[in-house]
Amino acid sequence: MTTTPQVTQAAGTPLPRGFRSAEQGWPRLDRIPRPSRRVPFIGDVVGANVRSPLQDSMKLAAELGPIFRRKGFGKEIVFVAGADLAAELADESRFAKHVGLGVANLRPMAGDGLFTAYNHEPNWQLAHDILAPGFSRDAMAGYHPLMLDVAGQLMASWDTSEAAGKPVDVPADMTKLTLETISRTGFGHDFGSFERERPHPFVTAMVGALTFAQRRNVVPPLLSSVLLRGAEKRNAADRAYLNHTVDEVVAARRASDGGPGDLLDRMLEVSHPETGERLSPENIRRQVITFLVAGHETTSGALSFALHYLAQHPEVLAKARDEVDRVWGDADVPAYEQVAKLRYLRRVLDESLRLWPTAPAFAREALADTTLGGTHPMRRGAWALVLTTMLHRDTAAWGEDPESFDPERFTPQAVRARPAHVFKPFGTGARACIGRQFALHEATLVLGLLLRRYDLRPEPDYRLAITERLTLMPRGLRLHLTRR
Ligand code: HEM
Repeated sequence: MTTTPQVTQAAGTPLPRGFRSAEQGWPRLDRIPRPSRRVPFIGDVVGANVRSPLQDSMKLAAELGPIFRRKGFGKEIVFVAGADLAAELADESRFAKHVGLGVANLRPMAGDGLFTAYNHEPNWQLAHDILAPGFSRDAMAGYHPLMLDVAGQLMASWDTSEAAGKPVDVPADMTKLTLETISRTGFGHDFGSFERERPHPFVTAMVGALTFAQRRNVVPPLLSSVLLRGAEKRNAADRAYLNHTVDEVVAARRASDGGPGDLLDRMLEVSHPETGERLSPENIRRQVITFLVAGHETTSGALSFALHYLAQHPEVLAKARDEVDRVWGDADVPAYEQVAKLRYLRRVLDESLRLWPTAPAFAREALADTTLGGTHPMRRGAWALVLTTMLHRDTAAWGEDPESFDPERFTPQAVRARPAHVFKPFGTGARACIGRQFALHEATLVLGLLLRRYDLRPEPDYRLAITERLTLMPRGLRLHLTRR
């Protein structure tokens, strides 16, 4: 279970923190294409929109190729969009996770919690080893009944909308579902999301914090004290609210006779199997926030995109539903083992995550001086941002029509025929997503239940638009339901 990222051993001394512009780590930047219309002092801002940095970068990748750079207000970033270079960056003997940009901006909220910890911080390994068993097959089977329960709440609410002939707000409802699922399975806490008209204040504070973290990437440092003054204040209030909520959840558990052996019990009671060390109260607070945020925002987007594509592709929906009917039969509720048997539905989910990986980029840094793609020298600590959305559209890996939605791309034969490291919605290596199986089980289960119960119809003039706030979400997606 002990999977120390090699960065600690290979690098010896920790790498410097703080933003490192590409000039510092890439001695031959001149070999990396950049937009032609660079504005002095300001950078590559022509056509840039602070609300859509990812989609702007996707357009640049389409123009500039598998590796390119982009500069804004003195900060230069190297982006990797091509499958070959991304595969190289996935080599854990040469590269590791880089905590930078958006992830580093979350440090005030999540500190050395699992997602935001620097590779060399001892709490990463400690928490990883203590929490990984919380995602074992047995643990997942234990969460299944609670997941069913929350899905039941969603369907009760959708039944009401259906009876009233009202469309449902998919991202809002998926967010309620996934927040309740992680908070109840992981921490025994019920936010009561389905009893509320408006999002729970925890969600509002979390969305505020994510949006703020993204904004800090694109606002010039010299102007941030002016432009973000109001936002800084709101952000401090959001963080205080998140901390307060989490402290209450932890205090309630400490005051009880112990919980059901969930993630919170592991955090509070389990010591490291080899060193006997425990997580500190401050670190537990960071981990709870990390899991409540990382454990719902991305899954909620994944479910929303999958529902969008299902509604837009009736033939795919029919095939997926046939499978649910066949595999689940007339069982009132599916058993744990029956969820992973929905192979076709899982392909639908994978294909949605290919087109819109809801954590759309991840950063990798060099463990030692090296050369990327045989052409681009990198000094130790130099880093690049892998644009997962473009990796997932590289025609060399995905064929000539990567924009088309086609779950058949994920048949076992098709997967085997592709090179490794071309599908990375959950990141890569030692720092890849710890909650992958949790997310896939939850999402497949919920999609299966919804397909079994409803026909889904899109709004006639809906065109997919993307909201970016570090994670991705289909904007304004509403679906009309009919009970089967
Ligand atoms: C579809 C849903 C999800 C997606 C697309 C996703 C994606 C990712 C990605 C790309 C990373 C790596 C980030 C990086 O390299 O900087 C990551 C890490 C992580 N994810 Fe997820 N995730 C999902 C669901 C979940 C769930 C359900 C949980 C918890 C229950 C979770 C908890 C975490 C944690 C704690 C990390 C940090 C792991 C580490 O560094 O040790 N995620 N996720």
